Amino acid sequence: MSSASNSFIAQLPKAELHVHLEGTLEPDLLFELAERNGIELPYNTPADVVAAYDFYDLPSFLAIYYKAMQVLCTEQDFYDLAFAYFSKAAAQNVVYVEPFFDPQAHTSRGVEFGTVIDGIHRAQVDAQAQLGVTSNLIMCFLRDMSAESAQLHLQVAEPYLDWIIGVGLDSDEKDNPPAKFAAVFKDARAMGLKLTMHCDVNQQDIVDHMWECLELIDVDRIDHGINALDDPRLLKMIKERGLGLTICPISNRFVVQNLTGEEIRQFLQVGIKATVNSDDPAYFRGYMNENLQALAQDAGFTNAELGTLTRNAFEICWADNKTKNALLAQLDEYLAAA
Ligand code: ADE
Ligand code: ZN
Repeated sequence: MSSASNSFIAQLPKAELHVHLEGTLEPDLLFELAERNGIELPYNTPADVVAAYDFYDLPSFLAIYYKAMQVLCTEQDFYDLAFAYFSKAAAQNVVYVEPFFDPQAHTSRGVEFGTVIDGIHRAQVDAQAQLGVTSNLIMCFLRDMSAESAQLHLQVAEPYLDWIIGVGLDSDEKDNPPAKFAAVFKDARAMGLKLTMHCDVNQQDIVDHMWECLELIDVDRIDHGINALDDPRLLKMIKERGLGLTICPISNRFVVQNLTGEEIRQFLQVGIKATVNSDDPAYFRGYMNENLQALAQDAGFTNAELGTLTRNAFEICWADNKTKNALLAQLDEYLAAA
């Protein structure tokens, strides 16, 4: 079987379940927002920004990511960030998205929670109406901040619960296990929110973190999760529970120097619902199509394999059943004709 072509990938209707909105901040918009807000950047041109992307692991990436997002100040800034991402998604035939946002990275700089979520929500409404991109928002807690701060942000988010489908956990995983946030995630569940957590690739204590996700937190899915392959019992339980994994190949190539194509193939072979996502596409220089193309070109993924990965994303997403069935029907129609 031959590798999937770029045109098969480009026209495939896709879902994206692991994208940090702050990670979609392109250098051009970074410059525009810096100028609008009177913020001086340590670069002369957008090309200089890309040239300064010298990350090689999670902490070195996060340092650059948190610094750049300081240009996001007003409701309009958050709107522009999110609408630019949805426009890119639409251009790549991404029809459904569950984007993450990191409120604590903004409130810690004095930007109100309402400013952040109002701008993102307005972009979601416009993206649905103008671009046909449906989305449901996930609020992430920063795991290198305290559990008290996460709890406080869950309370601040309460008036906006109609705009949030679930909560996640991201940022620096070292010495910040899921257990630290067990009480916050229990409360989030009681508020009707879905639960996911990052289990970043090859992190210290990663297998223990994955067990905590399953046994203590009872997550609805796992972000990344490649290291489930290190423990057959873990793998079995993820399969039995039908849990999805939101894997990010190009991000993995940056952060752990491995596209993880073989690992993704192993998940497919044992029937685990692995999916492909872009994570922080402005930084890793790859959106959904580029991630799928990398799997096709560098790891030989076929139409059938990319079709399964895409079907998995529609199946594990948190859209209501009517939306989910319509998305799956759209995918089936495409695959039958391809
Ligand atoms: N925040 C943004 N991108 C992230 C990643 N890849 N891992 C953990 N936290 C993140
Ligand atoms: Zn991520």
